[in-house]
Amino acid sequence: MKILSLETSCDETAAAVIIDGRIASNIIASQASLHAKTGGVVPEVAAREHVKIIIPTIKLALDKAKTDLKNIDAIAVTQGPGLVTSLMVGIDTAKALAWVCDKPLIPINHLEAHIYANFVGHATHPAPDAGSRPRIKSGVVFPALILIVSGGHTLLVLMKKHGEYQILGETVDDAAGEAFDKTAKLLGLGYPGGPAISKLALTGNPEQFNFPRPMIKSDNLNFSFSGLKTAVLYEVIKHKTINPKQKSDFAASVQQAIVDVLISKTDQAIKKFQPKTIMLGGGVAANDQLRKNFKLLAKKYKLGRSMPKFEYCTDNAAMIGLAAYHRLKHKKAKSQRNFMVLPQMVLK
Ligand code: KG4
Ligand code: ZN
Repeated sequence: MKILSLETSCDETAAAVIIDGRIASNIIASQASLHAKTGGVVPEVAAREHVKIIIPTIKLALDKAKTDLKNIDAIAVTQGPGLVTSLMVGIDTAKALAWVCDKPLIPINHLEAHIYANFVGHATHPAPDAGSRPRIKSGVVFPALILIVSGGHTLLVLMKKHGEYQILGETVDDAAGEAFDKTAKLLGLGYPGGPAISKLALTGNPEQFNFPRPMIKSDNLNFSFSGLKTAVLYEVIKHKTINPKQKSDFAASVQQAIVDVLISKTDQAIKKFQPKTIMLGGGVAANDQLRKNFKLLAKKYKLGRSMPKFEYCTDNAAMIGLAAYHRLKHKKAKSQRNFMVLPQMVLK
């Protein structure tokens, strides 16, 4: 089964070819340098850039996988959530290709795809006591608890089996990635902020600034990061000038506050829902401090764990193709030609 997959939900134009569940090619044309000039993504600029490069990106993905459109069995594309104008470029391109080449077309939820970034090769570490429980190839034993942390979303999801999800909690305002990006902007670190903050944090003191851990003690599994953003703003204003050492301390302290909340909520969800495996997904899953703490959490409860390899944490099309592959394999996908863009698409 050869799948051509497309992803254009935000500022990465991406195309991949997945052959029998394995990645044959994965091309990502990032617009990061374009949006660095404005300190964030301007949707219309992103969409215009997608239009310019989507065809060469697809061509490169097909060439690298040594195949062509004729030999593709299905096309998969991100339907949502994301920026409406960006999503439209991927969807309209995929629809056109599907009509012209008469191929099945599978719309995919971007958040589900972030989960499937865990299904690249053998990314998992099985639970020590997994015993004879049924396992899929990657080593994931269901039910799995997934923490999805990206630029636009923060949610805890219980995955009972392929294609079956229960949302346990989500952010009531900003996403974790947004808190990283806004802090970076306040510190003049440019866009995207997450990687810059995590690099600076390596040399900073996480206890220098005592930032709030919003909702860490609430009796539900929801998150909130807007108050933390405001707290960072006031602390920055208080400082008039910030020397390099203080900048690192800011980065380390904010990062620690975000990671503490994410880990504490995941811990509460483990106690309540007793998963067999815990998984990470989304761009913030590339954060070292989060990964370290996530590993410790799995160890504490003797659970299997999975974290995507770094290159599959942030947006890419391989994860879209993998989600489509597993949906098709488990008979949870059907070809559609007339679906709409869903910028607020939910995972269900
Ligand atoms: O999943 P993603 O590529 O796009 C969305 O679906 O939103 O996530 C992008 C987010 C950005 O907020 C970016 O700053 C954050 O992931 N990010 C990180 C790191 N790398 C990317 N945040 C913290 N530490 C990182 N190393
Ligand atoms: Zn994403």
